[in-house]
Amino acid sequence: MTRRLPDDFLIGCATAAHQVEGGLDNDWSRMEREHPQRIRDGSVSGMACDHYARYRADLDQLAGMHHTAHRFSIEWSRVEPRQGIFDGSALDHYRDVVRTCRLLGVEPVVTLHHFTLPTWLADRGGVLDADAPRLFARFAAACTEALGDQVGWWITINEPAVLAVFGYMYGEWPPLQRSTRAFLSALGGMARMHAAAYTAVHTVAAAHGWTARVSFAHHDRPLRPLNPRSPLDRAATVAPNALFNRWFLRACRSGRLLPPVGRGQAVPGLGRSLDYLALNFYCEERVRFSRRHPRGMFAESVPAPDLPLSSFGWSIDPDALRRALERLWKEFRLPVLIAENGVADENDELRSRFIVDHLGAVCAAMASGVEVRGYLHWSSMDNFEWAEGYSKRFGLIAVDRATMQRTPKPSAALFAEICQTRVVPSAVPVVG
Ligand code: BGC
Repeated sequence: MTRRLPDDFLIGCATAAHQVEGGLDNDWSRMEREHPQRIRDGSVSGMACDHYARYRADLDQLAGMHHTAHRFSIEWSRVEPRQGIFDGSALDHYRDVVRTCRLLGVEPVVTLHHFTLPTWLADRGGVLDADAPRLFARFAAACTEALGDQVGWWITINEPAVLAVFGYMYGEWPPLQRSTRAFLSALGGMARMHAAAYTAVHTVAAAHGWTARVSFAHHDRPLRPLNPRSPLDRAATVAPNALFNRWFLRACRSGRLLPPVGRGQAVPGLGRSLDYLALNFYCEERVRFSRRHPRGMFAESVPAPDLPLSSFGWSIDPDALRRALERLWKEFRLPVLIAENGVADENDELRSRFIVDHLGAVCAAMASGVEVRGYLHWSSMDNFEWAEGYSKRFGLIAVDRATMQRTPKPSAALFAEICQTRVVPSAVPVVG
């Protein structure tokens, strides 16, 4: 098996506005203010990494590390701070981000919605608002008008199933709801929003003769039975796997709100609304049947006994990425862009090996026929990790939050070497 990545393979990092930009006023910053106990380390996103002001230097640094692609999200609350009032200067900002990427030879991958909403939309019901698809499409069209001549890769919504679980079922993220009904409605609402944005991006792009590839970002987190011989443990994986890992993908293929979200009704624009598959992959989960977890559909997550764990407690098993890629390819036959993959690791002890082994798994999947177009590591720099605050570190680059000074970690140098040579070593090279 070759461990050489193709010359046109996109390689770089992914970020999201709320986690790096700083100075935001959206439903998340409002929750941080009003419910400080929701953030485990007591922090607020605040100035985050001040990336809104420092994007040129940040992108320059990544290009200097031979990255050829960069994923970021457009913050809706900046572009449309009040309903129907668009801020041209915010769009100019993102236009310059894209232009800077292009000048540096970096392919931009643009997300339209990465977990945060403008407060005016949150107050109308957020993704549950019947008008959210139309409003999201209007925002998507404005973004495509402004950036579409220089952007070929679009992501409509980041991880709808994750947002539905944490925001609507577990009540840990905005809008802090805890109801199965709201969870199912959120999935349905976001499917409609994705369909509307998919159509909007393509309509604007086609009117100008621009090429656009559009996907949502699918978080794949396969559940495996803790004890494969236990029929109950095995049964406990079935419903959550179908709902969290496949429902949205299958809706985008069939064009229908399939049960249990809907009754199979068709949604205009939803059918075949994936031009590629943006895949966020972190780990598989082991689960056992537990009557005490009705909200988790009786599947209780337990740490994998036989695998190393990240500082988040997530298992590290590169072959799980190969398995996920092969399963997704078999079912959907879509070219894949890995839009996130990374590890929470306070002292950069795990990350180099994580990168080498996960890129090795990508090579193995490609050798078995899966079309993988690129790999975006999560993340370029340590940033605001949602309900974990700043306590979990996913970055290749450390950020001193008092001075905002950036310091690349050893794993950044290793990743840079891979980006430059396109060769994935079979083990982490020993330095010194
Ligand atoms: C999200 C990122 C997040 C990362 C690590 C993904 O689910 O898209 O925003 O930081 O996981 O938890």
